[in-house]
Amino acid sequence: MRSAFSILLVFVSLGNALAQSGCRASLSDVGEDAWQQLNASTNGRLVAVVPSAQYCYDVGCTDEQWVSSTWRGENMPGSMLQPNWEQDYDSSPPELCFRNTTGNCKHGDVPWYAVLAETVEDIQAGVNFARTNNLRLAIKASGHDYLGRSTAKDSLLISTHGLQNFTVHDDFDGHGSAVTVGSGMGLRQIYPALKETGKIIVGGNAATVVAAGGYIQGGGHSALSPALGLAADNALQFTIVTADGEHITADDTQNSDLFWALRGGGAGSWGVIVSATFRAYNAFNATLAYTYLTTNSTNATDIGSLMTTHAAHIHDFDAVHGGQYYYVLQNATGDGKRGFYAHTFFPNVSADTSKELMQPFLTEALATGAWGVLQEKYQEGVINDLIYAADNEGAQNTFMGSRLVPETAYDEPEAIGTMYTRLFEAGAHSVLGHIVAGGKVTENADIDSAIHPKWRTAKTHVIVTNSWTDDADMSSVQNMRSLFQTAQRPIMEKVTGSDAGSYSNEGDAYEADFVTTFFGQQNYGRLSEIKTKYDPDDLFIVKAGVGSERWNEKGLCKVA
Ligand SMILES: Cc1cc2nc3c(=O)[nH]c(=O)nc-3n(C[C@H](O)[C@H](O)[C@H](O)COP(=O)(O)OP(=O)(O)OC[C@H]3O[C@@H](n4cnc5c(N)ncnc54)[C@H](O)[C@@H]3O)c2cc1C
Ligand SMILES: *[C@@H]1O[C@H](CO)[C@@H](O)[C@H](O)[C@H]1NC(C)=O
Ligand SMILES: *[C@@H]1O[C@H](CO)[C@@H](O)[C@H](O)[C@H]1NC(C)=O
Ligand SMILES: *[C@@H]1O[C@H](CO)[C@@H](O)[C@H](O)[C@H]1NC(C)=O
Ligand SMILES: *[C@@H]1O[C@H](CO)[C@@H](O)[C@H](O)[C@H]1NC(C)=O
Ligand SMILES: *[C@@H]1O[C@H](CO)[C@@H](O)[C@H](O)[C@H]1NC(C)=O
Ligand SMILES: *[C@@H]1O[C@H](CO)[C@@H](O)[C@H](O)[C@H]1NC(C)=O
Ligand SMILES: *[C@@H]1O[C@H](CO)[C@@H](O)[C@H](O)[C@H]1NC(C)=O
Ligand SMILES: *[C@@H]1O[C@H](CO)[C@@H](O)[C@H](O)[C@H]1NC(C)=O
Repeated sequence: MRSAFSILLVFVSLGNALAQSGCRASLSDVGEDAWQQLNASTNGRLVAVVPSAQYCYDVGCTDEQWVSSTWRGENMPGSMLQPNWEQDYDSSPPELCFRNTTGNCKHGDVPWYAVLAETVEDIQAGVNFARTNNLRLAIKASGHDYLGRSTAKDSLLISTHGLQNFTVHDDFDGHGSAVTVGSGMGLRQIYPALKETGKIIVGGNAATVVAAGGYIQGGGHSALSPALGLAADNALQFTIVTADGEHITADDTQNSDLFWALRGGGAGSWGVIVSATFRAYNAFNATLAYTYLTTNSTNATDIGSLMTTHAAHIHDFDAVHGGQYYYVLQNATGDGKRGFYAHTFFPNVSADTSKELMQPFLTEALATGAWGVLQEKYQEGVINDLIYAADNEGAQNTFMGSRLVPETAYDEPEAIGTMYTRLFEAGAHSVLGHIVAGGKVTENADIDSAIHPKWRTAKTHVIVTNSWTDDADMSSVQNMRSLFQTAQRPIMEKVTGSDAGSYSNEGDAYEADFVTTFFGQQNYGRLSEIKTKYDPDDLFIVKAGVGSERWNEKGLCKVA
């Protein structure tokens, strides 16, 4: 406990006075007795949070730990996969804490305390405490969030990492096979556990992303989406602790409005999810194709012409419902060379057939001589083993921006290629693309949920990343922060149109019109009503989330 607390008494009325000023209470306004009560009511699961770099300075950590998504996500309560979200670049002077600092760390945007919840009661105690004391509240499942929404300055954090429940159902309420997972369970645990039962769910590609946390609330895309739809299309039920501290069920018969919002209405805006139930499919064999190309050319037009070829072949896997994650990197091999990496997932397709399906693109891509093959590999196996990577690395400072690219944009492959050339000329560090739409995602257009309607007419989701190292000066960091909106968004919109939408889990935290871009005007009115019904005092506010327009950037004070 910070000793300052001991000289303050607990007056709930103090919190109320601050509420009238339109700001959250300061944590030092909450007396030590109250914190101790919270600790007691959570069985001693309240901890003081330390910024990750401070921990490495005080206690020590290895380089492997520092970049590990498992260490950052699961072992360090206040750590984000991207350390830039732990910094407060906006205060004057900035409050920073870098790896290998000499003990000169500031707390930045890291929460002060965390409830490491293991039970529903722990979550309820945290929610009730934050509401009663008018505190800024943050929720973290894995800390993977690209918009920094699982941390908040001057906040109390509820970590759901300890919620590791896992139950397989043969028939869930007449929906057939399903699995219920706790909101702390990472994909790296879920896929192998499902393998034991011969089942698979629609889930993401990163090992430590939590299926029942931010992923599902954003909608959740997967290499299996062209075959089986978005993750949210396959969500059957949630249990959630809402702002009033109640633990309720949301599905198509109970609290169905909240069920609608939880499927695409955005992470962290509705309550603390305890568990989610997903439709489960029989596991199947698949092939994962690795296609890595490099070029010696430093001319961005050589990226553009490769991506024109890629766009011309975008429909090559449609008949087999293939999904693909592909990346173009500025400095792929560490010697400054550009690289193209694709991981293509072919459900129910043999390695030989997968290889045949890749050849039209590969042959044309290599024909100009600018690109060479670094690796070409076809791995067959059960989908549970192929779909995720072991421990995706993190610890890179990154801001990003993205757009859903409509299927119709692929009628002009050269425009897509030119978009890539321009994006790299405009400073992009990498451009990631996902063939995770079309097919079943389009067929699921009649599902009534908060999924952005633009998902149903998209073919890919394309993300631009802008990264930097800790030695960059503050003006370059601020430049990185605005680069997508000022320079890169206009380049993408030439191809996608100005209202193409973006995936709220992999977008720009500073998106100029987040309502249209992340949710769509059609859905936002209904989302706002549901928000007001379940969270009338805006306890759950995240960057670019529903209701955030009423709060300042840090979510600490209401704007007029
Ligand atoms: C390497 C990498 C790969 C990725 N791959 C994919 C992919 O294949 N498909 C895809 O769709 N996305 C992918 N993503 C994006 C991913 O969906 C988001 O990062 C998502 O926010 C992660 O959710 P989380 O709960 O694990 O993360 P967190 O950072 O812990 O939380 C993210 C958001 O959800 C909220 N939240 C977390 N837990 C709860 C809870 N229990 N109740 C309520 N709110 C909660 C947080 O407050 C925050 O707003 C990837 C991200 C990374 C870093
Ligand atoms: C909460 O209680 C536990 C066990 O009693 C203790 O170890 C921990 O330090 C306490 N947390 C805080 C923030 O004081
Ligand atoms: C921090 O220091 C360690 C140990 O000296 C070193 O291996 C590592 O590369 C440094 N990391 C950074 C980001 O400077
Ligand atoms: C875990 O699952 C069991 C059995 O399904 C249930 O009784 C328990 O309440 C669950 N715990 C949490 C924290 O969800
Ligand atoms: C998957 O492949 C394995 C090994 O080739 C085989 O034994 C198994 O029967 C296959 N499973 C299905 C569902 O086809
Ligand atoms: C890059 O290639 C294009 C097309 O071949 C050419 O017009 C342009 O001059 C080149 N740019 C540089 C910097 O070499
Ligand atoms: C490429 O990356 C390596 C190490 O990752 C770095 O040393 C080098 O300066 C980078 N080169 C360019 C051109 O960015
Ligand atoms: C894989 O094949 C099985 C058996 O034909 C079928 O039931 C299943 O739907 C297929 N799955 C996918 C994702 O294509
Ligand atoms: C790049 O340069 C290396 C070394 O000169 C050469 O071996 C390689 O074939 C070149 N790659 C391409 C795609 O031209």
